[in-house]
Amino acid sequence: MAYRQEKVILVTGGSSGIGKSICQYLTSKGFKVYGTSRKAQEDLGFPLLSIDVTDDESVKLGVEELLRREGRIDVLINNAGIGMMGAVEDSIPKDSLKVFETNVFGPLRMMQTVLPTMRAQKSGLIINIGSIAGYMGLPYRSIYSATKASLGMITEALRMELKPYNVKACVLDPGDYSTSIAQHRQVNIPEQSPYRSSVVALEKMIDEEVHSSSDPMEVALLIEKIISIPEPKVRYISGKFKQKLSVAIKHWIGGKFFENILVKHYKL
Ligand SMILES: NC(=O)c1ccc[n+]([C@@H]2O[C@H](COP(=O)([O-])OP(=O)(O)OC[C@H]3O[C@@H](n4cnc5c(N)ncnc54)[C@H](OP(=O)(O)O)[C@@H]3O)[C@@H](O)[C@H]2O)c1
Repeated sequence: MAYRQEKVILVTGGSSGIGKSICQYLTSKGFKVYGTSRKAQEDLGFPLLSIDVTDDESVKLGVEELLRREGRIDVLINNAGIGMMGAVEDSIPKDSLKVFETNVFGPLRMMQTVLPTMRAQKSGLIINIGSIAGYMGLPYRSIYSATKASLGMITEALRMELKPYNVKACVLDPGDYSTSIAQHRQVNIPEQSPYRSSVVALEKMIDEEVHSSSDPMEVALLIEKIISIPEPKVRYISGKFKQKLSVAIKHWIGGKFFENILVKHYKL
């Protein structure tokens, strides 16, 4: 068997959506893939470890179990994440912290737990799943955007810190994909909120966009490519042309011009 096919890959959040597609696709390609879930699942065609990324002990035990079974870890894909909706004024720190716990400190815990092994191996790759939302402060999704922007910055810094150890890291930022993210999203819309009708309308619009969006298997195909590259790029973006273009416009023009595009798109 070729070396490439023996790689041991851990994907957080393998029970649903993008993570499940990644696990199923890479398993079908002969990789040794482990997903994770916080609850018991039916047989998905690949092994699942029990990991809650918001819990230190759970992360430690889950990674120890993987290393006990396989003796190594070649790729960590930090995919587990949750969405959040609500106006900035309504996003109280206690609720916002929960989203940061999953989307930022969760991946941080996972990286800190696998890195001693990867450094000792003198090889390894970490792929952090960000979002196109991390390139722009999206209205009524500010906290979600902030978590994904944070994860991107942590990854950019990590790449340079890992240079002496031959361990690589990169970010993959998806656009909209048809998954269960809307059902699992944390929504903060207090009854008395002055923003209530706007947030409800925007939530409906976003849910429709997610339901009619691309197959998450597209992300799995890109992951396979990244895994096969000796020196991955800093960032990868996957999604529809319009979504990729939005990142380029934000980067090159930005400011009020870009803000007006968002205002028009979201009918604010
Ligand atoms: N769908 C999109 O349009 C889109 C766009 C850009 C970025 N993303 C990002 O892609 C990633 C996957 O999202 P998805 O759309 O596939 O969502 P999803 O269908 O809701 O799946 C979320 C996964 O995360 C896991 N998870 C949630 N909280 C967790 C925790 N505390 N500990 C461990 N696992 C946890 C869930 O596993 P259990 O509940 O079984 O534990 C589930 O497998 C997220 O990081 C998301 O932000 C998605």
